[in-house]
Amino acid sequence: MKLRSHLVIAMTSLIVSSLLVVGIFTVTVSRRGMTRLASEQLSFKAEEIRKFAWNQWDVLVTNGLTELPLFREAVLDSVNSYARTVVREGIETVTAFDQNGQILFASSESGVSLSDDDWNTIRNEEGIFRLSVDTTELIGYVFQFDPLEWTVLTSVPVSQFFAETDEITITLVAGSLLILVTMIALLLFVASRIATPVTEIASGMREISRSRNFDTRLPARGFDEVRYAATAFNTMSIDLKNSYQRLREIAVSEAKAHAELDNREIEALLILGRLSDYNDHETGLHIIRVGLYSMLLAQALGIPAEESRLLYRAAPLHDVGKIAVPKHILLKPGPLDNAERETMQQHTIAGHRILSEADSPSLKVGAEIALTHHEKYNGCGYPNGLSGTDIPLFSRILAVADVFDAVTTPRPYKDPWPLDRAFELVQTERGEHFDPTIADLFLQNHDKVIDVFMNAELTDGRN
Ligand SMILES: [Fe+2]
Ligand SMILES: [Fe+2]
Repeated sequence: MKLRSHLVIAMTSLIVSSLLVVGIFTVTVSRRGMTRLASEQLSFKAEEIRKFAWNQWDVLVTNGLTELPLFREAVLDSVNSYARTVVREGIETVTAFDQNGQILFASSESGVSLSDDDWNTIRNEEGIFRLSVDTTELIGYVFQFDPLEWTVLTSVPVSQFFAETDEITITLVAGSLLILVTMIALLLFVASRIATPVTEIASGMREISRSRNFDTRLPARGFDEVRYAATAFNTMSIDLKNSYQRLREIAVSEAKAHAELDNREIEALLILGRLSDYNDHETGLHIIRVGLYSMLLAQALGIPAEESRLLYRAAPLHDVGKIAVPKHILLKPGPLDNAERETMQQHTIAGHRILSEADSPSLKVGAEIALTHHEKYNGCGYPNGLSGTDIPLFSRILAVADVFDAVTTPRPYKDPWPLDRAFELVQTERGEHFDPTIADLFLQNHDKVIDVFMNAELTDGRN
């Protein structure tokens, strides 16, 4: 819910509840006060009539005329006339009843006709009573005039009795409504002055977050607290911009350092690879090309770039175990006898032993390749006679790359094969020495293979 709605609902509830409490209190107090005043006025008028009646009766007593009906009638007429002058005509009524509840006289034309219940309620009683005549509610003051055995009722309709308080109530409600409408209008104005700058700040923050444009500044206006918030955010924005730039510089610098470290590692691995070939007939380019052919095949197989690069780095290490092979066997120009061949084959195990203790991912892959790069798909390889997919994928890849490069490279004891013959060898050994899928991919990438063959020297192995 919006801040503006919150403020208006909260404040309106507060105002309405306050007005209700004040209104109820005021109406109750004023009604009570007005009721007391009206009752006293009614009582006063009734007492005046009683006094007048007693005065008239005293005159009869003084003159010894109390038993004469004519004078008793005269008292009745004069009290009736006096009562008409005391009450408000058409509003208040004075009615005198005999002992049977029959009307003796009344200040209005018909007087007040009581029900039996109401008559039984007021006969022989004195004070204020609430009565009902037909559908009209009455408030009446009752007194007894004993000499003539009258019961005199001075009454007024409840609607008139409470007319003043009803007027106060209506005025109060109208005033409260006016106050409420004014306050809500005022609240909407104030809420808008608070909410608009807050909304602008929120939109500005969203925009900065979305665009990363830390040069955006929020408008500092409205109430003090809102201005402070905008100013604080602007200051924070400047700090964020500086930090962001610093982070970018650090990130660029770290990327450069990482790339440098990467190149150094590749260089170190190549040197290690060359070291193993130092006593062999291999050239430095052999290990570079084997790495490039291997990466080409890994990419063609859909191996993720990060892993392909790992294979590229580890490839130069495949013959690192040759460092443990005696020089006279390694450099023997003629064919090896069985014992020499066995010694030669031990370079796989020696290479694995050299590299297997390392934690580096490149060296770990190097250890795996060193051990298994002479295994053959048909199970006739060494040192463990693994076959099919039991041979690690990287070694199945490297086997094709290694053999292809070996036959296409000149040696002191042989000429290089023509490229077509080398490709034929790959085709022939498909499913024998080589994994058929990998051999097929190698053949399918004929042009790229030739490109590596021709340009390996230029790439220097770092691309
Ligand atoms: Fe080898
Ligand atoms: Fe090799």
